[in-house]
Order: sequence, then structure tokens, then C-alpha cells
Amino acid sequence: MTTFRPLRGMRDFLPKHAERIRYVEQVSREVAQLYGYKEVITPVMERYELLAAKSGEEIRERMYAFEDMGGRRVALRPEFTASIARLVATKMKNAPKPLKLFCVGSLYRYDEPQYGRFREFWQSDYELLGSSRPEADAEILAITNDLMRRLGFRSYYIKIGHTGILRGILSEEGIIEEQQNRIMQLLDKKRWEEALTVVRGLGAPQRCITALKRILKTRGNDTSRVLKGAKESVQNYESSVAAVENLQEIIQLTREGGTAFETLIEAGFARGLEYYTGMIFEAYVPEMDIALGGGGRYDKLIELFGGEPTPAVGVAPGIDRLVLAMKKQRVPVKIRREKRVMVIPVDEELKTKAFELSTMLRRAGIPTEVEVMGRTVSKALSDADRRAVAYAIVIGPEELKEGKVVLRNMEKREQRVVEIKNLLEEILGSTS
Ligand code: HAM
Repeated sequence: MTTFRPLRGMRDFLPKHAERIRYVEQVSREVAQLYGYKEVITPVMERYELLAAKSGEEIRERMYAFEDMGGRRVALRPEFTASIARLVATKMKNAPKPLKLFCVGSLYRYDEPQYGRFREFWQSDYELLGSSRPEADAEILAITNDLMRRLGFRSYYIKIGHTGILRGILSEEGIIEEQQNRIMQLLDKKRWEEALTVVRGLGAPQRCITALKRILKTRGNDTSRVLKGAKESVQNYESSVAAVENLQEIIQLTREGGTAFETLIEAGFARGLEYYTGMIFEAYVPEMDIALGGGGRYDKLIELFGGEPTPAVGVAPGIDRLVLAMKKQRVPVKIRREKRVMVIPVDEELKTKAFELSTMLRRAGIPTEVEVMGRTVSKALSDADRRAVAYAIVIGPEELKEGKVVLRNMEKREQRVVEIKNLLEEILGSTS
């Protein structure tokens, strides 16, 4: 007989892992609420053209795309940003700006499975629409920083760049957008030499190659020194200088506004997605060389989908990778554990009473399980022990006649006979 397994790159999440995923999701939602981002839920499947537009070659080629039974070309979403842009171009066209949206869910990319890279993975996503000002970029950085802090990371850094630096050079040399995208894809994959060969092949002058080479080497933690160096390297290119100045302003705002995080400025930083028009960034922990989240400014996407010109900036933290990074840094998951109760009848005749009592406890908000296996009290108790239940309630005929049950504190291994009418008080009032 065939034994079925999940598809390659897809995973089952058993309770412990599922709990961690949901924990990161919950902390992400709390951060969204702190900043006034409203949650939206969009479909897992969209028109292929919507998802493919401006997503970049790498993602485009790895989409789960197929024809549905109605002959429409559809795909599983590889990210949220395109769906959000669709919403803002259509149903939310008249929503007052700034518009702050949050979503969380599963995404699909036919990536080669490896550590931290899956074909089904989870993201939370924050999008701020309607502002082209550096305050908006700074807010998205602050959200990313707050999420990392709230999750309890001991050390992390954010790598920041600006697409306008490289694109400014290429545009001013007359290189068209399509070619720019190709060059940016190569740079994103750190295939610098190949990228420079393409630029040379397009007939760019030596000053362009020199500027690009210098920019690709301009990186470091000393923000003001790196940005000064970047500005000097691109001094012949007006729009690149403007991009460096924009980055300077965003970073200054985060710094002076009290958002302290370790920064790695990379002037030649490129990200795979094609829709970015401004600041771009990724979050990292030193123990892992894969990005835990990424984002940036995309000012042209909404109008591409037929909406009003709407500047936008956002970030998508990768939940699976955040869980992995938390394990690496041994960051504890702060899940509040409620006291749980197990109700055990000593014989068949008392099972109705067990149900009745467990209903009463659950209605009072106490997580309660009832013995459903018909086991002896001692077997049911050892199972309760294994599951770290706080209390067992044993219902026996003698005690019941007097309106009482046995309440056993599993941790202290002590038990007492208590009146049923006092049961809630006994459980809720105890400190252990
Ligand atoms: P992205 O960089 O493609 O950006 O993805 C963001 C994060 O999702 C990554 O940093 C990573 O943590 C996680 N991720 C991506 N692919 C995988 C995978 N195959 N397995 C596990 N985790 C993965 C975006 O998706 C943009 N939509 C971000 C954005 C929002 N830009 C503006 N607004």
C-alpha cells in the first residue's frame, strides 16, 4: 500500500512547532495593533498576471501556476504585496490615506528546499500606503525592529540599501528598465562580475563601471561614513545622489527617533523583487546567513494595477525563519500556560457526571479534558501526568453521594476531597 508523505518542500506542523509558528504570528499581530495596521485576508490564489507583474524573474519562474477548470491562468501567491496592491487599486481605492494594512498566512514558491527555504512558508506582512515621505520608510523599519525586539532576539541587524543608487547610475547611462532588472537580478545573487559584463556589453562608459564597482564595495556599519562614501562614488549621477540623501534622511529619522538597531549599509544592495523604487532592507541574525524578513518602497505598483498613483512601503517578516532563528539564539517562547484539568470517572456509571463537570469547568474558562478511553483511574492519572495537567478530578460513587469529588494536585501529588460547589474556587483560587 502507498504511504503518503507531504510533497517536497511542504511540511506538517506537529503541535510543538505549530505553537511556535502561531506564537510568532501572534506577536506580529500585536505589533500591527501597536502601530494601527488593520488586518486583511486575501485569497491564496490569484490571477497569474497579477502575481507575475513586477515580482521579478526569480519568483515568476518559481510560481505554482496552472490553468483552472475554467481555463484561467492562476497561481498560488508567492507573496502578499501584489494582492495588497490589487486591493488598494480597486476596493480600497477611496480609503483615506495613509492606509496601513497587515496580513499573515501561507505562501508558495517552487524554491529548492534547504535550511530555512521551503515551498510552503509563512509571512506576516505590513504595508503602509499613501506616503512618499521618509517618515513612512522609517516607520516600516521601526516595525521590523519592534518585532525582532518583542520576539526577544539577543542580537540582530538590518541590512539597508536603496534601489535608486544603482538604478540611478544605470538610468542616467540610458540603460532601459528591462536590462536594469536583469542586472539587478544578477547583483541580488551576488554575481557581480556577470552583472558588470552585461553593463559593459550594453556600451556603458568606463565612468559607469568605475562608479558601479565602487558602489558594490561601499558597505559597513558606520552609517555616516558609508553614506558619505556612497555619495562621493555616485557624484556624477544626480538621481543616485538623491537616493543616498533619501537613505540618509530615513536612517537619521530612525536613529534620532529612538529606534536603535544595528545597521549594515550596503550601497550596492539589490533585492530580487522588481517593484522596488526606493529604500530596501532585510533583517538578519549573526548566526544565519539567510534573511529573516525583507521589504522596501514600491511607489509604482498600485498604478500598474490601474489604481491612483500611490506611494507605498512595506515589510514581510518570514515566520518560519524567525522560528528557526529563535531556536538558534535559544530565545524562549513566552506562551502563557493555563492550568489544565483532567476529569476521570472511576467507573462507567459516572461518565455522564464527568461530562457534566467538565462542561461546568470549561464554561468557567478552565481548559478541561475528560477521560475518553475508559481507562482505570491509575492509568488515566499517569496519562494526565505525562501531559502536564495541573489537576485531576476523580469522580467516585462514595464522594459523589455527598456532592464531593477528589481534587488531585498533579505537581504536588496531593489530593483532597472537595465539595463540587467549591470546585471552581479551589482551582481558580489556587496559586500552584
Ligand atoms: P521576500 O524577500 O521575497 O519579500 O520575502 C520576505 C521573507 O519571506 C524573506 O526574508 C524570508 O524570511 C521569507 N521567505 C521567502 N521565501 C521563503 C522560502 N522559500 N522559505 C521560507 N521563507 C521564505 C517579499 O515577499 C515582499 N513581498 C516583502 C515586501 C512587503 N516588500 C514590500 N512589502
